[in-house]
Order: sequence, then C-alpha cells, then structure tokens
Amino acid sequence: MMVTAGALSRRVRLALLVVWVLPALARAQSADLARTPPMGWSSWNHFGTQISDATLRVQADAMVSNGMQAVGYVYVNIDDGWEGQRDEHGAMQPNEHFPDMKALADYVHGKGLKLGIYSSPAAKTCAGFEGSLDHEEQDAQRYAAWGVDFLKYDWCGAPGDAKAAYSKMHDAVQRSGRPMVYSLSQSGMDRVWTWGASVGGNLWRTSKDIADNYDRMSIIGFSQNGLERFAGPGHWNDPDMLEIGNGGMNGDEYRTHMSLWSLLAAPLIAGNDLTKMTPETVAILTNADVIAVDQDPAGLQGARVAQEGPLEMWMKPLADGSKAVGLFNRTAFGTTMTVTFADLGIAETAAVRDLWARKDLGSFTSSFTSNVNAHGVVLVRIRPEAAPTPSPAS
Ligand code: GLA
Repeated sequence: MMVTAGALSRRVRLALLVVWVLPALARAQSADLARTPPMGWSSWNHFGTQISDATLRVQADAMVSNGMQAVGYVYVNIDDGWEGQRDEHGAMQPNEHFPDMKALADYVHGKGLKLGIYSSPAAKTCAGFEGSLDHEEQDAQRYAAWGVDFLKYDWCGAPGDAKAAYSKMHDAVQRSGRPMVYSLSQSGMDRVWTWGASVGGNLWRTSKDIADNYDRMSIIGFSQNGLERFAGPGHWNDPDMLEIGNGGMNGDEYRTHMSLWSLLAAPLIAGNDLTKMTPETVAILTNADVIAVDQDPAGLQGARVAQEGPLEMWMKPLADGSKAVGLFNRTAFGTTMTVTFADLGIAETAAVRDLWARKDLGSFTSSFTSNVNAHGVVLVRIRPEAAPTPSPAS
C-alpha cells in the first residue's frame, strides 16, 4: 500500500499525540489535583480492617463538626478491608459492611468532603482481600461510577514491574474520566520519589508503615532529609499517615509529628478516631498556623539546616519570604536550643512567631533561643525584617 507524505505526517502527528501529548496532558491534569499536600483522614491506622459504611459516615460527620473541614481536611479515605468478591462479570463488589458505595460517596460529597478508596496491583491486597490485578480498567470505571475522588494503590507484592503496574492503573483512571488523587503505596521501594510523578502519582510513600510510638514516627520523619527536591505542587513525598490522637505518644511527641510532617510538606491524613478526640488532639490537628506551613503555596519541602547529635533544626522556605523553623529535641530531657539566622539565610533581624503558642514573640537579631521539651519541638515562623535605614550622619 502506498503511503503519501500527507498521510504519513498525519500518522506521525497522531503517534505524537498518543505517545507524548496525551500522557503529558493527563499528567498535567493529575498535578492539578494536589497543588498542596492532600489533607484528610484514613481508616487504616485506627480501625485496620474493622470498617463499615457506618464507621465512614460518622468519621465524615466528625470531620465537619470538630473544625477539621474548616482548616482544610477534605478526603475521607477507606483503606484496606472494604472489598468483597467479584460478580460473574468480574465487577468488584464491596463486602457486606458496605451495602451501597455510591450512597456512601453521595453522603460524603453532601458534606462537602471527598471519598477515597484503596486497592492493589496484586491479586490480593496487603490484608488479603481481592486486588485489582487484571481488572484495572473495570475497577477504575467502577470507582468512577461510585464517585471516588482518591485512590491509594498499595503494592502488596504484585508481580512484575512497579512503574508499569502504577502507570496501568493511572491510565485506567484517566480513561474513567473522573479525577482521582493517585496515592502510590509501596514502602518507598526502587526510590519511588525519582519516578512517582512520571506514572501519575500525586503522592508516594517513602517508608514502610508508621506506628503509634515516638521511635517509629521519628525514625521515619527525621530520615526524610534529601528528598526535598522530588516534591512540589502536584506530587509529594508521603512519610505515611498521622498517628496523632491514637494514644501512643504524649502531646510533645504528637506536636513533633505534626510539626515535622508540616515542614516536610507531607500529606496530612489523620489516622485516629475523629469521634473521640481530646481537646489537645483537636488543637494539634487543627492549628491553622501549623497547617499553613504544610499548605504553603510555594510547595517547597523543608530540610535539616543544622544538627547537634539528637538536636535538629529543620527549615521550610515559605511563599512570603519567611521561614518555618522547627527546633526538635530528640533527647529524653528538656534543653535549650538556638537557631542561628545565618543558617537560614537571614542576615540580621527577624520577627519570630511561635506557631504552637500562636503568639508573636517580637524581633530577634542573629539568633533565636528557646527551651525545648523532651521529644518536643518549638515551631516558629521567622520573617526577615528590612535592615533599618542608616540615620543621616550627624
Ligand atoms: C500496607 C500499607 C498500609 C495499609 C495496609 C493495608 O501495609 O502500607 O498503609 O494500607 O497495607 O493492608
């Protein structure tokens, strides 16, 4: 068959469209979904697989009534444990604890919130439920029909190449026509931060699972240094969901957790029972000054700027030119810590605000010193002040 130059160039244009333009557009659309790190709640850390439609509804109710929605939490995420069997056409059915997924999504949407779901590219999920292997297209269509807004896709020992598996589900979600934040969960293997965005990921786990104790939380949080260049609007490093309010850490330790995750521009996915929170838990999860650090529009992930053994100083540059700084004391005793402005790139004088006390502390020159509790943090926002104009020579 003769191929004319015109037909060839049409074919080349079509091939370019399919191979390059469409995936690029899909990635651009995906990136628009998470311009700042996603905020919400997930069932896993507190409830494990003991979940139901009723559990989800009361958590959504609580997210509205306790003030979390007002400060930015929006996703209500069902983790592993919702899955039933496939029907004779291969369509995925929820188990008996979720009688009507579409009705649940409508309920969550009716509150101005969004619904998340969980699956795996393996035959079985990590907790042994039905996975999406070889049913990607069908499952993506089904999630879209239910009204799902967020998909956590958890590796769970799937066969084959992770990039291909994650791309396959991303493409299926794109074809479903419903935007869904895409959360890659695979313990950070194969340095996922270097390729997560290229397969459409909006967030990717950088570690194995968190646990509700200071050791595990701090090992994950303080080991994120160096990953900052891989995060930005639309694509975030995910050091795992929050344990705040689950009872295994004290207030200082939970403030360390929230401060560190905010400096890291990490997704803030609460993992406690929102219907049973102490006033301190509410205060930690809803502190608007701290959340503003996490959600800063510049989308820069913070990094360590100074360290003296277990005393660490982390800094996140913010869009207005100020710097969020965490003074972290990883020892079991209270101590005094000093942040030197030169380490932050601040020349002279700066105004300091204490974000947990929610109080302006005034102007400081060259450095700022504070007591920091055992396993605690002092989180401040430091705004450089214009150098005073020299007075005319007298
Ligand atoms: C893995 C993930 C967890 C959770 C469980 C569910 O361990 O890392 O976050 O989703 O699977 O089985």
